[in-house]
Amino acid sequence: MTASTDGSRTPRDATSFRLAGRLIAVGVTGSIAAYKAAELVRRLRDEGADVVVLMTPSATRFVGEVTFAALTRHPVETDPGSLLPDQRIGHIVVADSADAIVVAPATAHWLATMAAGLAGDAVTAACLATTSPVVVAPAMDGDMYAHPATRANVARLRDDFGYSIVEPEAGPLASGQIGQGRLADTAVIVDAVVAAVAGRPVRAPDGADRPPRLDPARDADLDDRRIVVTAGGTAEPIDPVRYIGNRSTGKMGVAIAEAALARGAHVTLIVGNVSVPLPDDPRIVIIPAETTAEMREAVIEALTGSDVLVMAAAVADFRPRQAATHKLGRKDGLTLELEPTEDILAAASAAVATSAWPSRRPVLVGFAAETGSLERAVGKLGRKGVDLIVANDVSEAGSGFGTDTNRVSILSPGGGRDDLPLMSKREVADRLLDRVVTVLDERDGVAQTDRMTQETRA
Ligand code: CTP
Repeated sequence: MTASTDGSRTPRDATSFRLAGRLIAVGVTGSIAAYKAAELVRRLRDEGADVVVLMTPSATRFVGEVTFAALTRHPVETDPGSLLPDQRIGHIVVADSADAIVVAPATAHWLATMAAGLAGDAVTAACLATTSPVVVAPAMDGDMYAHPATRANVARLRDDFGYSIVEPEAGPLASGQIGQGRLADTAVIVDAVVAAVAGRPVRAPDGADRPPRLDPARDADLDDRRIVVTAGGTAEPIDPVRYIGNRSTGKMGVAIAEAALARGAHVTLIVGNVSVPLPDDPRIVIIPAETTAEMREAVIEALTGSDVLVMAAAVADFRPRQAATHKLGRKDGLTLELEPTEDILAAASAAVATSAWPSRRPVLVGFAAETGSLERAVGKLGRKGVDLIVANDVSEAGSGFGTDTNRVSILSPGGGRDDLPLMSKREVADRLLDRVVTVLDERDGVAQTDRMTQETRA
């Protein structure tokens, strides 16, 4: 799935993520174009890459570390002398695990530093310490780029070190001049990274060998977020007393609602048939919805102004084409003609993908109850246009309808997959919300980047 700057998304086939499974390190140096590195990080992630950022001290004057930490969920390396919380040396971990390092923007100063092999900043230190490909995208004033010193440094990086140079573009520069020095287009830099890693095996497929992930604080990390959760099964009437239903008890959806409340969220719980007690809390609004059509209407209405939608309900896939208005007698026999119901999640995804959507695009989460392989669940990510799918095998013992436990895999676009062990539904809810918080932070980081981009252009 790809995100455009207006927040709209288009479904995308999982195999088309060109950097799936890769770790790409982005080195940011102190140029006015440093803000464009946030957009680069975002595009690399759109290609399925795990991204970690290294910054020179002067880069931190242009963009705060927090922006990159929020976008990547990894600590940002700014000092070659500092250690990670687990005592490993940060820039060495990056050097040893990244599939490529891309330095963008690279200033004249940094090119000179690198050409001389001076390891005083985290970006140069990681480049010196790595055996991975290095891609360098310079950005500076046109005369600086044309200076023989810079030309010699670029030539040394390209010819002696084997780095790929993404030449800057000609055009208006921050100095007011026109010349060759503008950071290349983000898409061109991403293409250069894709080309640099092509044909190479993934260096550190095991996350433990990569830089650590930042654990979101659990306590109030959904403070004031608005989250819509559906729970239970929908029921499609056959006649006034009978319906087509399913075995859902609503336990999973209710556990998510409770976990979200405990983490500070305002919750709208849209419930079909449930057989568990519902939370009693001033921050929860409970909306009953019996049929799929009623649930769809309630979901679409609740979606405006919400940050998250979690479709944990077991929605009926078929309904009688016509429900009888009177109770059907047994002796008449019964043949039902069924029609498919509307896909609520796909409708929600289509609604928020339009540029007419009035507010920030909510994070969309679907569930996929499968029997046997979870491969079908992977297809639902793109087909339904969602950010996360929680997939489980309902035929497995301890996993499925009515149980207190669940064994799930959380799938994300780009091939991401967390296989969680068997755990309580409440624990599954918390692990899912951890992921939701990460996606929300990224969304907000991206929104901040967009604002900065617009302000800088204005
Ligand atoms: N879902 C929905 N509307 C439907 C059917 C399902 O919103 N009419 C949601 C479910 O709540 C769940 C996700 O879509 O979050 C996946 O549901 P699932 O039944 O696995 O998918 P289907 O689209 O019904 O696909 P299939 O029956 O072919 O597996």
